[in-house]
Amino acid sequence: MALVNLNFPASYDDMAAALPGCSGIYVVADRNVSSLYAQPIIKALEHAGAPVKGLMEIRCSERLKTYKNVEKIQSWLIARGADRNALLLAVGGGITTDLVGFAACTYKRGIKYANVPTTLLAMVDAGIGGKTGCNIGSYKNMAGIIKQPHTTFIMPWFCRSLSRKLFCDGYAELLKTFIIGDAEAYDIAVKDKDHKRLDELISRAASIKAKIVEADPDEAGLRKVLNLGHSFAHAIEFKSAHAWLPWHRHISHGQAVAMGMIMAARMSEELKLAQAGLADRLTSDFRSLGLPTESPWDFEALRPIMRTDKKSKDGKVSFILIASIGKVVMKDIGL
Ligand code: GLY
Repeated sequence: MALVNLNFPASYDDMAAALPGCSGIYVVADRNVSSLYAQPIIKALEHAGAPVKGLMEIRCSERLKTYKNVEKIQSWLIARGADRNALLLAVGGGITTDLVGFAACTYKRGIKYANVPTTLLAMVDAGIGGKTGCNIGSYKNMAGIIKQPHTTFIMPWFCRSLSRKLFCDGYAELLKTFIIGDAEAYDIAVKDKDHKRLDELISRAASIKAKIVEADPDEAGLRKVLNLGHSFAHAIEFKSAHAWLPWHRHISHGQAVAMGMIMAARMSEELKLAQAGLADRLTSDFRSLGLPTESPWDFEALRPIMRTDKKSKDGKVSFILIASIGKVVMKDIGL
């Protein structure tokens, strides 16, 4: 069995066969998608004879991605007698998969879990690769563990229920993956305005991510490329969380990643790693897809926050820079 298992079921009926044997399946779902996805999935699992033991509905937001809510999931497991052979099934977006994964990895020193990402962002990024965790105050993902889910079930048709904002958030991560490693798919993604090729794009992006994680599950080196735009993005999100101007608040992760990739492209040009015009090209491509491109804060305003990034070391941050679309380079830069 591979380390990173992606499963593209044709219907919910195919899911039970892909899950491991276990003493019980405990489903934790974002309450916004519980009736739409979690309950029908549970029905199909039960129909196939899988030992579903309960459904917990949780509220998901960055503010609620806390130790307290990890503990709530674990208390629910204790109340239901979940043992070390139990399996936790996360149904929701990236916040759900991170939080539920972390609860699984630390419950009784670790039980199995599987992901059913329901947002585009989680299908191509957060739900794959085993990064689990929670926030500490406004510091994102400051606590966590990397442990692979048993399986990530990807059902692209879930994207039909996403709001435009949530869809764009995921599209930013999809474009990120192609800027890292698939120039041809990037061009398709930019041109595919009516999303006729979305299934293929999701599959290509998820597979690229899976390959990178397989090669470097613990993020010792190569996996860091997946952080393209993220050093800027995390700082933008931090500033947004503390902003007093209403229009600077509520910048989502995907929006921040889009802005962060443009900043990375500009930095790449300034350092002569990329040809002039790269940032302008990305700006025009992203705009044509409805993604934001301008961070309300410039490099100087973001610098002190980036210095505290959990990935900074000895005052240096590993920036992922863009040599050309489909090729990135890593550079440690003192801040
Ligand atoms: N989201 C970046 C990673 O999984 O490594």
